[in-house]
Amino acid sequence: MSLNDSTSVRDYDILVIGSGAAGLTLALKTADFARVAVISKGQLSQGATYWAQGGIAAVLDDDDSIDAHIADTLVAGAGLCHRDMVSHVVENSSECVKWLVEQGVPFTTVDPHDAKIAAARAPLQPDNLAPLHLTQEGGHSHRRIIHATDATGRAVFETLAAKARLHRNIELIENCVAIDLITYSKLGLPENRCAGAYVFNAQTGNVDVYKARFVVLATGGASKAYLFTSNPDGATGDGIAMAWRAGCRVANMEFNQFHPTCLYHPHAKSFLITEALRGEGAWLELPDGTRFMTRFDERGELAPRDIVARAIDHEMKRLGCDCVFLNITHKPADFIKEHFPTIYSNCLKFGIDIARDRIPVVPAAHYTCGGVVVDKHSRTDLPNLYAIGETSFTGLHGANRMASNSLLECFVLAFSASEDIREKFASTPLAEHIPAWDDSKVTRSAEEIIVAHNWDELRRFMWAYVGIVRKNERLQRARRRIQLLEQETADYYKHYIVSKDLLELRNLVLVSRLIVDSAIARKESRGLHYSVDYPDTLAQAQDTVLTPVNAIVGA
Ligand code: FAD
Ligand code: SIN
Repeated sequence: MSLNDSTSVRDYDILVIGSGAAGLTLALKTADFARVAVISKGQLSQGATYWAQGGIAAVLDDDDSIDAHIADTLVAGAGLCHRDMVSHVVENSSECVKWLVEQGVPFTTVDPHDAKIAAARAPLQPDNLAPLHLTQEGGHSHRRIIHATDATGRAVFETLAAKARLHRNIELIENCVAIDLITYSKLGLPENRCAGAYVFNAQTGNVDVYKARFVVLATGGASKAYLFTSNPDGATGDGIAMAWRAGCRVANMEFNQFHPTCLYHPHAKSFLITEALRGEGAWLELPDGTRFMTRFDERGELAPRDIVARAIDHEMKRLGCDCVFLNITHKPADFIKEHFPTIYSNCLKFGIDIARDRIPVVPAAHYTCGGVVVDKHSRTDLPNLYAIGETSFTGLHGANRMASNSLLECFVLAFSASEDIREKFASTPLAEHIPAWDDSKVTRSAEEIIVAHNWDELRRFMWAYVGIVRKNERLQRARRRIQLLEQETADYYKHYIVSKDLLELRNLVLVSRLIVDSAIARKESRGLHYSVDYPDTLAQAQDTVLTPVNAIVGA
């Protein structure tokens, strides 16, 4: 074996792959007893968390109740949510909010000019949370979304990242891409478990060994599988792909959520127009100004996302128009600027004054409801491997995630996983010897264009064949093309030195196959998965659980 001389071996108690809401929360919750590394494949702020707008769902209002939040989540999830997981997440919502306020997240208060009030109160008791402003989003029967104006994710990320930076037991490492998990079974050792990961350092070009007693996948979703998405670069399903290659089950990958309202403008890349705009009264219009949502659902603009996105898709196809419009011009300009400053200023850059003009919008891939199968502690099938946040499948979202339940899930499950790690900590040793990455049989590629083209091809046909409305014939077409791309990517991976683009493509192709296989397996329409061949919903709701061939997971 010829080895890259400058390869390094690092060891930690916990390796967290991903620096979004889920990864940073887990790091902060475990750093009092463990040495934690948090790696991000780009800058720390790279993930979806930074871009989250609407907020975090939590039961904080006296008129609201845990039961109501649970009931709304179950309705949005179209019969497929796991009731025990829904209860677990909702029941822990106020504890998470309390923790976030204690960390200093500047949530908007009832008087938006006083955004610092809530953050200043520490420790905060649940009944002191009344000053937080609660907004409304689709599917929720109450105002229950806490937020930091329309840039909640940025406020959460900046607060948690600042805390993590100051913590002596946390190391934050940027521009490092986890390639694959290291398992005892791959090392030929008995009692299979996860022992770390091989990590590509995009700055040095080396592949390093990260040994850890526990590995946590917090790598976000896979919406980059689609040409049009609200997600930032990097949402390539890496955690799902790595877990699958390590033998873990994945579930419900056919449930790709399309957000109904992304800005439609030739120069706007992936800019979301938050659902909270509709929550505060904005309505959807066709190009001629006619409102249409009540023709599709009596809840109108506040119907769950799958219904709104499908209605827009239907109207765009029926009329042959490029977009529909979101209109909030009937609200006072001051109210709009105060509640939605980020959207106001961003749209203005594109010449749209949302206090006076309608906003052109289209649906775009937004959230991956499926993922790595985990239990209530976010344990995967592989001992010592956890998955949290969008990369995991907990059963919370069922066939359609309700707005603002995603960040909530990141916090609650990061809390649960950290408790489990704490309990196991003393009895879990580091793996002794892990071989370095073998790059003796690969050379540098002179043809990066192949990777770029395959990326583009994949995302285009996923959009066209595996989008909002599905059909068997189109799914089969996508399946055949994915087989070819899988083969080409595997050859490329085998022969050439790895790059970030190649690693992401390899994961995205695999995850796309899991999406298509799951979509083909579901012989009904339910929630986000709508098939013209099977328009009815079956009486029995069932998850689509895929198991890797030759999986050797448990000890
Ligand atoms: P992310 O925040 O996506 O972070 C993933 C991390 O993993 C990144 O640091 C990335 O660099 C790293 N990573 C990935 N692969 C690798 C690898 N191979 N090696 C190393 N690092 C890797 N949800 C809500 O509940 N409320 C909202 O208001 C809301 N608004 C949204 C608005 C937008 C525009 C988007 C895109 C999503 C929104 N969502 C919202 C969804 C929510 O933001 C995400 O589901 C959530 O932030 C995911 O957090 P995460 O920690 O799981 O992953
Ligand atoms: C939004 O603000 O519309 C996104 C909320 C979410 O994805 O939960």
